Amino acid sequence: MIKAQRGTKDILGDEILIWQKIENSAKEVFQNACFNRIQTPIFEATELFNRGVGDSTDIVNKEMYTFCVGGINKDETSITLRPENTAGVVRSYIEHNIQRQSPPQKFWYFGPMFRYERPQAGRQRQFHQVGVEMFGVADAAADAEVIMTAVELLKSLGLNDLEVELNSLGCKNCKDDYKTSIKKVLEPYLEELCDDCKMRFEKNPLRILDCKNENCQKIFEKEEVKKVIFGDYVCEECKDHFDKLTSYLDNLNIKYSKNKLLVRGLDYYNRTVFEIKSNLLGSQSAVCGGGRYDGLVEMLGGQPTPAIGFAMGVERLASLMEKIEPQKIDYYIVSNNTIEAMKLAQKLRRNGKTADYCTQNKKFTKQLEKASKVANKALILGEDEINQGFYSVKDLNTSEQNKVFDFEML
Ligand code: HAM
Repeated sequence: MIKAQRGTKDILGDEILIWQKIENSAKEVFQNACFNRIQTPIFEATELFNRGVGDSTDIVNKEMYTFCVGGINKDETSITLRPENTAGVVRSYIEHNIQRQSPPQKFWYFGPMFRYERPQAGRQRQFHQVGVEMFGVADAAADAEVIMTAVELLKSLGLNDLEVELNSLGCKNCKDDYKTSIKKVLEPYLEELCDDCKMRFEKNPLRILDCKNENCQKIFEKEEVKKVIFGDYVCEECKDHFDKLTSYLDNLNIKYSKNKLLVRGLDYYNRTVFEIKSNLLGSQSAVCGGGRYDGLVEMLGGQPTPAIGFAMGVERLASLMEKIEPQKIDYYIVSNNTIEAMKLAQKLRRNGKTADYCTQNKKFTKQLEKASKVANKALILGEDEINQGFYSVKDLNTSEQNKVFDFEML
């Protein structure tokens, strides 16, 4: 038997009801906040992620589904299944010259992403993200708008007790100072760091702070290292930006905590980064991750454009949500005349009702049994009903039965 690939999952049965709720709530919350839906391709040029996500990240180094298409005598093109959607949305933003329109430009998306990770609870190889990207506003109001939108979506899904964690990575200048100080203080311990951190030391020292390795954690606990990690390194402008954001959030009554160790796993961030976590999710506790990426549009060939966004993992959201009971349909048509039942179902469905009927010519009693399982009402269409032009409607909750002569009264 051929089975689903490791790290992938079929979504069906009761679970699909939860997924539909997530997608419908996202649509409502994002549309109310004036984000427009965007759908970008599932594969892109590999170069987009190498440059966009960053070639020092685990995503680009270890986790991309990359392959070459073309073949003998054709141009070989390296393409990659998208591991995330920010780079794709930025590519689309530049390609369609959306920056000509007056800012802000706000987009939302929902779709599959692919990362070749070691599968475990909450971590898959094909997973789904629902997220937003907002372009054109440098002020911290955009950061607050995006975080508020994330919190509203979580609230609309009934997920209230989640922790918002915030940090500022600073701008290019202060970030570089911070990186230099971290390298300096960690240099004497370089040999003791794990292999990943040794590589990060050269390519992206901030990512070292995210390491969960026990040995590395012990090094971070040393007084002189702690002093640098938790030191005040962001410049005045970045500090003002962060203070403005926290004051907006205070006014919106959005609770948060500051986490200096929050650095995120993608290279494009500057200033605000944030995650929303649940302590019910074990080690993969983040349901949402996001931040500001003011340099990315320019880096990918567009005009300098400030931007910020987030993405939530749909599987992780779904695992936190309560089971949804399937709803009964409006009518189950009980009839031995398949053509008449079919025509009536067509008419009811066109009228916005949920309706079904028997396509297998089963006995009347079997059809009634089915009706009582799946529907609120049975619509009986026997010979009398067809000849005399009425419908017998049985309320399956009360067992009351009525004759209805006018279709509009159904
Ligand atoms: P990310 O933190 O890599 O950020 O992913 C966002 C969320 O996707 C995570 O918090 C998690 O819920 C979910 N997720 C990530 N990887 C997996 C996985 N292997 N299995 C299940 N769920 C997963 C980004 O992707 C950025 N593009 C977010 C962003 C948008 N930043 C700015 N705009």
